[in-house]
Amino acid sequence: MFNLDMAPADPILGLNDAFRNDPAADKINLGVGVYMDDDGVTPIMRAVKKAEKMLLDSESTKSYLAISGLPSLPSLTQPLILGEASDLPGSGRVVTAQAPGGTGALRVAADFLRKAAPNATVWISTPTWANHAGIFQAAGLSTDTYPYYDAARQDLDRDAFLTALDKVPAGNVVVLHACCHNPSGVDPDTSTWEEVARIAGARGWLPIFDFAYQGFGDGLAEDRAGIVTVLDSGVPAFICSSYSKNFGLYNERIGAVTFVGETADEAERAFSHIKVAIRSNYSNPPSHGGSIVAAILSDAELRADWEDELTTMRRRIFAMRKGLADGLAARGVSRDFSFITAQKGMFSFAGITPAQVDALRVRHHVYAVRSGRINVAGITPAQMDRVCDALADVLAND
Ligand SMILES: Cc1ncc(COP(=O)(O)O)c(C=O)c1O
Repeated sequence: MFNLDMAPADPILGLNDAFRNDPAADKINLGVGVYMDDDGVTPIMRAVKKAEKMLLDSESTKSYLAISGLPSLPSLTQPLILGEASDLPGSGRVVTAQAPGGTGALRVAADFLRKAAPNATVWISTPTWANHAGIFQAAGLSTDTYPYYDAARQDLDRDAFLTALDKVPAGNVVVLHACCHNPSGVDPDTSTWEEVARIAGARGWLPIFDFAYQGFGDGLAEDRAGIVTVLDSGVPAFICSSYSKNFGLYNERIGAVTFVGETADEAERAFSHIKVAIRSNYSNPPSHGGSIVAAILSDAELRADWEDELTTMRRRIFAMRKGLADGLAARGVSRDFSFITAQKGMFSFAGITPAQVDALRVRHHVYAVRSGRINVAGITPAQMDRVCDALADVLAND
């Protein structure tokens, strides 16, 4: 019936297959996008385990959730992503639906936009998370790109970024990484966010914040600062947030899609269409992940324990960033790698060529994405010397 060529393999999942098939005992995977602890394990967080035990006893039905998910999730999610002191949640201008992960949240927003603004172009950063273009295009929207990362300086290309945003036509949509930009680790600073807010308001385009890493940068409050700055300026926005990383709930598929309208009336009307988009996509979300998040966020003790463990995770990532920068400097590599400590979240570009990525894999059994993106949160203290030796070798010889 179908005469199809093979679809291209997902570059990151393909890398995982190659890693799995490598018989070397000391192989290291820096390609995969999950947090690992000092033992190289992606842990179930303590508060999650406790909440799951509670749920096992208290859950009395597996009946469907509402289209928008658990009733308590919006009022728990909004203060987390908008600020505990924000008066937006009480204003009627904010609506939130539970979604199957940050990906599901983005797809719901995309389906909504396809209906509400079918001619809007969706602008994504160069580079960006590999799934952004696919999600919006699958919903039938066209995408374009704006400059973001300056590979020569390993930093934000601020002028090019702001100049491009200033040219986005009214009614278009701009996807912004709220923090911990994937794949570069480079985030806008306060004054740049202020400019983004001013330009969005002046130009009349709609920001969509992809908020997948809250708590992995500088802290729960610090990481939402860009969103707060833009919303404080009165600009409407979507926020597609994920609980995959900060609760370690990757395979439970839990996130949220939030819309902040210009008025309560606009938000209410938009929400009715968001629910239609969900209904015709997956009908209603899975329950388990949302129940875990709600149990933790609504219980002072569990919440404190979660925040505590998240802080430990964030500090561990920073320690690995520092270990990498110091380790490379100690090996006398000619390039300055101190930029690694200024970047946020799990990822950084190591500034290595595809040929050097291949040499890392072939000679050292160290796996990275061909763009040179490495998951710093995937390095363990025991592996640090090997990673630094391997990088120093390919930087000098390939
Ligand atoms: C930038 C970005 N957005 C969204 C997501 C989606 O996360 P989820 O697993 O919650 O769908 C990811 C996951 O890697 C990501 O890196």
